[in-house]
Formats: sequence, structure tokens, C-alpha cells
Amino acid sequence: MIKKGFLASALLTIFLVGCSTDEHNTEETFQETESSDKTNEETINSETKEIMLPEDELQRLDEGDNVLQLQLALIALGYPLEETEKYDEKTTWAITDLQLREDSVHINGIYDSKMQKMIEELLATEDTIDTPYKLAEPKEPDVQTDIVENPYEILSVVNKRFSLPSDYEPEDLTEPDVRFPFTEDDPKKQLREEAAHALENLFAAADQVGIQLFAQSGFRSYDRQESIFAANVESDGADHANTYSARPGESEHQTGLVMDVTSEQVNFDLTTDFGETDEGKWVSEHAHEYGFIVRYLEGKEDITEYQYEPWHLRYVGISAATEIKENELTLEEYLHIE
Ligand code: DAL
Ligand code: ZN
Repeated sequence: MIKKGFLASALLTIFLVGCSTDEHNTEETFQETESSDKTNEETINSETKEIMLPEDELQRLDEGDNVLQLQLALIALGYPLEETEKYDEKTTWAITDLQLREDSVHINGIYDSKMQKMIEELLATEDTIDTPYKLAEPKEPDVQTDIVENPYEILSVVNKRFSLPSDYEPEDLTEPDVRFPFTEDDPKKQLREEAAHALENLFAAADQVGIQLFAQSGFRSYDRQESIFAANVESDGADHANTYSARPGESEHQTGLVMDVTSEQVNFDLTTDFGETDEGKWVSEHAHEYGFIVRYLEGKEDITEYQYEPWHLRYVGISAATEIKENELTLEEYLHIE
């Protein structure tokens, strides 16, 4: 760690000293004016700091100089971040806050080429971000609190420990163009836009190999989950019900990032038998290619605290989904949440 910090400051010093030439004067390069004391010999060469905005996509858990450059840009925009070189909760928060200010980007906490362009344009104005923030600043960054502070984040963990605010409802809910086993309009057909497109891709790929999936249940509001959980408690008692049904606020369905899928062979039910069908097996093998994970795995019940649900697909993006699938992880394990 110390070595890494030293390398980072050495690198910055090179930028600071070398910045008077045009060498880095590309479209991706910005100069941040520092308040320097002209009488202080040590800072005389440090009037400007160059920021090289990364070309690569960055997200939670990423580390290194690219992340540092992004953090420097966010700091230049006025976000109160530390130069940790880690795509931590504060960095995710700042990116999400920026995304909430722009109509044409996905609100997911991920830095991509659209965010690069947006930040470039903002830096060019030399203004700082106006407050109040669109998303409240995390109170205790990287210490998980019981309430999910950034429900927009594509990797947000919602479980029996971390619940969503009762008034959280995603703003970009839309009905994916996929097969449902019913025709009537219902809010449960909806997903957040990014997840909806990903589900359309997943269904199209399944269709191509003769796998007919059906979408059964996506977004659920807090109130809807409250009714569902109450009905399940009525029939099975609270303890048993809570092995397969989440308490209100604790359901991932409220994120708009989940779709329960099923097939004709199991009468469109949500049953563990689905895992044994061709459709269930295909989903288990291929969902990650479209950014989804089977969230509640068999054998991981002690971590997820829910029974095996081969039908419950959670969108986390292709990069995280692939690592989670290849290493047979739960989302909690991937994010190192004990
Ligand atoms: N079946 C999952 C745990 C839910 O109710 O959200
Ligand atoms: Zn589900």
C-alpha cells in the first residue's frame, strides 16, 4: 500500500512539473489550477495538475491509476473525495450523483465513455458541481449501514441486513419487450431501463437456441412487497415465509433490477423444479453473458439467507456477473460483505 501511494505521488509530481509543455494537451487532458503560494519555492512549479480521464470503463472494486485520475477529476468538480485510488463507495456516489444530473445516461454508478464525455465537458466549463447533491453524500463511506444509501448503484446489495428506503422507486422503469405468461398490464412487468434491455438480449439469445423463457415478476414497490409478504406469513408463518419471501424494503424486486423467469414445463410457476428444466439450465449457464446472476444459489443459503431460487435473476452488469458466475459467488461474497 505504501509503495502504491508513493508511486502515485511520484506520478503526480511528474505531471505537476511537466505540465507547462503541450505534451499532454489532448482532448482528454485537463488542467486544474491549484491555489499556490507563489513565495513558497516548493509549490512554485505546482500551479497546475493534469488529469488524464480514463478511456476504460471503471466500476466498484477497480483500483489503480485510472481510478486516481477519475478521482482527481471528480475532486476538481467539487466532490469531497479522497484520492484512494479505489473505486470506493464515495467514488460510486459521485458518479451516481453526476448521472442523476443527465438525462441520456444510465444511472448505475459505473464510469463509462458517456461519463468520460460528460466529465470532460463539465471540466471544460471550470465550474464546480452545484449543491445540494442529487444523491445524499454517504454518511459512513465503506461502512455498510442498514439502509441502502445508493439504491441506484447497479451493484447495490439489498438483503436481510440492508434494506431500501420505503419511498425508493426507480425513475426509469420500463416494460421489456419479452414474453410474459399473462397479457394484462401490470407494474411487475417493469424493470429499470438498462436491465430491461439486457433482459431483451437474454431472451433473444435463448430464443435463438430454442429456449422459451417467460418473465413472471419484475419490479415490486415497497407497498406491493408488504402485501405479498403479509399473505405469505398468513399461509406459512413469518419464519418459513422469510426463507422464500422478503420483508418489505428487503426485496431486490424493489430495485427494478430483478426478473423472475420461468417456463411452460413448470406451468409458469416459480419453483425449484425450474432449475432442472432445459430453460433453467440454460439460464444458469448463460445469464451472466447478459449481465444477470442467479442470485440465490443452492448451497449458499447460509450467505444469502434465502432458499435456492433458480428463477430469480438479478442484473449486475456483464463484468460483475461474469466474475460472480465463474467463481460461483454470491453478490455478498463478490463485494466482500460479511
Ligand atoms: N423471493 C425473494 C427473496 C424476494 O421476495 O424478493
Ligand atoms: Zn424474485
